[in-house]
Amino acid sequence: MRVPIIAGNWKMNKTVSEAIDLVRELRRLVIDVEKVEIVVCPPFVALSSVAEALSGTKIKVGAQNVYFEEKGAYTGEVSAAMLAGLGEYVIIGHSERRQYFGETDESVNQKVKAALAHGLKPIVCVGENLKQYEANETGAVVSLQIKSGLVGLTVEQLKSIVIAYEPIWAIGTGKAATGAGANSVVSINIRGPLSELFGESIAQATRVQYGGSVTPGNIAEFMAMPEIDGALVGGASLKANDFAEIIKATAKAK
Ligand code: PGA
Repeated sequence: MRVPIIAGNWKMNKTVSEAIDLVRELRRLVIDVEKVEIVVCPPFVALSSVAEALSGTKIKVGAQNVYFEEKGAYTGEVSAAMLAGLGEYVIIGHSERRQYFGETDESVNQKVKAALAHGLKPIVCVGENLKQYEANETGAVVSLQIKSGLVGLTVEQLKSIVIAYEPIWAIGTGKAATGAGANSVVSINIRGPLSELFGESIAQATRVQYGGSVTPGNIAEFMAMPEIDGALVGGASLKANDFAEIIKATAKAK
């Protein structure tokens, strides 16, 4: 039903030549993998070289951000129209962008709409911080991010969306959530509001990834969970071997 999807978020890592080396190695390692959609999200400057190095393979390319305006005087920004020819996916609302670059649910919503208008598939990130987690606010925080981030979309548009549940306290810390904990948030606080907004059948059809300190060592725990359809992988996606292990373990589990 839901095709598992493993995406690598490289963040601000790899020069263009390092990026090409990484995907050349990756394509060799995952050549036999079926049934898992594989996406790499390099920095903007490496997008076209990476796309070229991956042409003819099943590995897809995504960007890490997009600006919502069509074009104009927005120094340093990149529009959805510019990305449309380069990649298929775009990560939107990553917690680092919310934390360091002032992104809000409102800008996430504008970006999602801009991406969809140009045929890009958004990977929309949601997740609570440590303080919210400790205060038992996870459910409320995540549901609100879902509702505000996706407000105004049609059911048809939702079909192109992937959600990534990434507890902020688990990102880059080596302290992943538990499979059962993440599974419950996805079921109750992500599919729940999706169902309220768009109906039960699309809520069940939407793919939801887990992200936050995913490694070859813990991927099986997450992929054993019925509500989790893949992973958004940061640190471990920078090493071809580790990323390939994660992809293979997903193919085996799903
Ligand atoms: P991490 O990052 O795997 O390094 O924890 C995940 C992410 O930020 O998407």
